[in-house]
Amino acid sequence: MDVVEIKPKVHWVGAVDWNLRYFHGPTYYTHRGTTYNSYLIQDEKIALVDGVYEPFQDELLENIGQLIDPADIDYIIVNHIEPDHSGALPKVVAAAPNAKIICSQKAKDGLEKYYGMDVEYRVVKTGDEISLGSKTVKFILAPMLHWPDSMFSYVPEDKLLLPNDAFGQHYASSFRFDDQVDNHVLMEEAARYYANILLPFSKLVAKKIEEIIGMGLEIDMIAPSHGIIWRQNPGQILEAYTRWARGEAGHKAVILYDTMWNSTESMAKAILDGIIAEGVEAQLCKASATNTTEVIGELLEAKAVLVGSSTFHGDYLPPVATILDELSGLKPQNRIGMAFGSYGWRSEAVPHIEQMLTEIGIELVHDSLAVNWRPNDEELAKCREAGAAIGKLVKAGK
Ligand code: FEO
Repeated sequence: MDVVEIKPKVHWVGAVDWNLRYFHGPTYYTHRGTTYNSYLIQDEKIALVDGVYEPFQDELLENIGQLIDPADIDYIIVNHIEPDHSGALPKVVAAAPNAKIICSQKAKDGLEKYYGMDVEYRVVKTGDEISLGSKTVKFILAPMLHWPDSMFSYVPEDKLLLPNDAFGQHYASSFRFDDQVDNHVLMEEAARYYANILLPFSKLVAKKIEEIIGMGLEIDMIAPSHGIIWRQNPGQILEAYTRWARGEAGHKAVILYDTMWNSTESMAKAILDGIIAEGVEAQLCKASATNTTEVIGELLEAKAVLVGSSTFHGDYLPPVATILDELSGLKPQNRIGMAFGSYGWRSEAVPHIEQMLTEIGIELVHDSLAVNWRPNDEELAKCREAGAAIGKLVKAGK
């Protein structure tokens, strides 16, 4: 793939992984693939910022070779050690024997354990910088965004922020910039990425954005290590991250459910009707028919999360359990919800869902609804009333 100049003498030299369908093992369904963005800064000194996943190591070196001899690299800046960015490092180090690795202490510890390379390190912390000649690279540690080693790099002369995973998207494209792709798709993938990777670290995200604003950094381009580069409107993703990090949601409800003989589904649809009647956007997600990654992405913008299941083996159905387990790790803030479901001889799914929603931190704002066997007209009317009541709260931003 051709390299792309993103700023004067700063080139994207990464790789596009069109076929990746699962990231982080089986946890993140990447239906649009991803990219591993690596950047080469050419000045009196030459710096490579981040790398690619090991299967793309030859592509990275070929791309660098379009611009320079890899042996001329002076610095390899490792903002994050996860193998999707560091996998190619041993081969890059071999091709650039004079290069020094610049990284955080945690990154150095991790790289030594991962690869045990014979290489010189320079450990940096927030405020440290290196001069490349006419350009400078400053460093900002960003622990737990999203690993302990994570770090941002910033080139003040180009107003360029290189934040590695932060502000990224799993989005393979032949284009590199935000003004070249559909903005709705871009923001949908950015939201899905935030919800599935950064949501548990929202308090740290908010603090880091405040810190960057406090440092007075001028930013006119954000070049993450996955997906599209924000050059037309970096403010759009900064504003979205600020909102997501504060736990702010849209006027939207998600009804997540699964069903054995359609009784719980009838309840879910009646609740949906009640919400929609209040003029509130609502989405019905059958757990076994929707990918967990997509549901989690939808929940990022949903104020209300209503969860239903038939009782099965004394509990809620396994597809619902999968998503609730994932949510218990992600811990979305400032959400409201309720539980509902049908049962045969003992209602166990509904109280268990209530317990799980409480553990996740979702405020229960309506009595749960449990229906024996099949909902009758009166019970379906109660479902519609519950939907309407929650719709009113969502509309009011409660
Ligand atoms: Fe893109 Fe945390 O790796």
